[in-house]
Amino acid sequence: MSSKPSRSALAALHPRKTLAFRLSAAYSLAGLILVILATASLYIVLRTELNRSTELFLADKLHVLQTMLRERPDDGEALNEEIELESQARRYQQFYIRLLDERGVPIMTTSGMAEQLDLVELASRTRGRSERPIAMVGRHGKPFRVTSASVAVGTPPTHNDTVQIAIDISQEDDLLARYRFWFWGILLMTSVLFPLVGFRIARDGIRPVEEIAAIARRITSTSLRERIESEGYPSELASLAGTFNEMLERLEESFERISRFTADIAHDLRTPVNNIRGEAEVALARPRTADEYRDVLESSLEESVRLSELIGDLLFLARAESPFTELHRETVNIGELLTTVHDYYEASASDAGISLVNDGTEPLSAELDRSLMLRVMSNLISNAIAHTPPGGTVTLAAKNEDAAIRIEVSDTGVGIPVEALPRVFDRFFRVDPSRSKASGGTGLGLAIVLSILTLHGGSAEITSQLGRGTRVTLRMPVLATR
Ligand SMILES: Nc1ncnc2c1ncn2[C@@H]1O[C@H](COP(=O)(O)OP(=O)(O)O)[C@@H](O)[C@H]1O
Ligand SMILES: [Mg+2]
Repeated sequence: MSSKPSRSALAALHPRKTLAFRLSAAYSLAGLILVILATASLYIVLRTELNRSTELFLADKLHVLQTMLRERPDDGEALNEEIELESQARRYQQFYIRLLDERGVPIMTTSGMAEQLDLVELASRTRGRSERPIAMVGRHGKPFRVTSASVAVGTPPTHNDTVQIAIDISQEDDLLARYRFWFWGILLMTSVLFPLVGFRIARDGIRPVEEIAAIARRITSTSLRERIESEGYPSELASLAGTFNEMLERLEESFERISRFTADIAHDLRTPVNNIRGEAEVALARPRTADEYRDVLESSLEESVRLSELIGDLLFLARAESPFTELHRETVNIGELLTTVHDYYEASASDAGISLVNDGTEPLSAELDRSLMLRVMSNLISNAIAHTPPGGTVTLAAKNEDAAIRIEVSDTGVGIPVEALPRVFDRFFRVDPSRSKASGGTGLGLAIVLSILTLHGGSAEITSQLGRGTRVTLRMPVLATR
């Protein structure tokens, strides 16, 4: 037992958030931040603008009074009109003006000003201030902006009066309050709406993934034909679906190959067994002479040998595919290896009227499994001899190629049709099954060659021209790579 908690235990501790959840959470957060930023900055702009327009209004008023006091200091009528009438004409945004002489005695006051504002407080708060308006709360709780300025009277000026102006800004404050109300309302709405909409969008976006997962769950070895319809998928997911379909294609292919292989095995095992059984049954049907029994036994023995060879080949292939197969590598002298197989096959080649030539006598060596390489060479040479008519030649050659060894077995035989070439390394594949059967081939020879070369980290290739001959080229690294 390992001390680490298992994956499933960890998963139970921290349940996975769905992708849709994460995406919609991210959308909502981003959306909320945007809404807050946008509305807050608009609020700040609005407040600044309102303040500015109040200030401009006050500055304007002050300017009018300054001009009047300077140009027509004695026209009390006009001054009164300016101060009294205009402020009364307003219903909202009322403003009040008070004029004081140099000793601080009020000369003129907008009616109702004293009722709205604490004038003593106004005077003390605006005294000595610049012309920038300051905030003040009226007697009835209304918000005001107030300012005061000292104004020269007459041209040339004889003395200075003081002007105090106050403006009711409750309209502006109300506007800002309504804005804040809507701000919170919109915030509330978006914080409910964004997650809902975001979740919808995310769900729709990842629906194809769920479909792919559903298909993947459904698939078993008998339903490998199923494919994902990626029509209408966004391109990323269409490519995922495509990759998935390709994988299914490959799986389907290899399952088909395996089941074909199994059928082939069954077929190839049944033939010799049927032969043995048939002969035994016939032999037992009536009494036989000792010679007749001997014939039957000999024929059974032949079939049994064929059978055990076939089983041996199948076992070999099965083992060669296991990832735990070990090679017994040793330093093999290639020239010596070729000489050995050459000498072994020379007699049978010349019996068939074929000359077996060994061109690979250079002193080359590589780290190989010697007995497996002998098997490779004898498979290739017996193929070449079997498919070469009398008078032909089979040539063995070996060359050094960078860090690899190249071995070639070529013949001047019947060749292989182009369409059959890609399949000759397949198990049980025979170009002409009836003919090969007579020569005892099982169609496993080249498959074994390929698997041995693969075990060595090498490769096997075949080229052929119909009627001209065939060449098999083997390449393997000089030094063991695994
Ligand atoms: N040198 C060759 N010349 C022509 N055909 C060949 C040659 N080697 C292999 N073949 C073809 O490839 C098939 C597969 O070869 P192999 O796997 O050795 O199976 P087998 O020899 O048992 O038939 C053979 O049946 C034969 O048709
Ligand atoms: Mg063969």
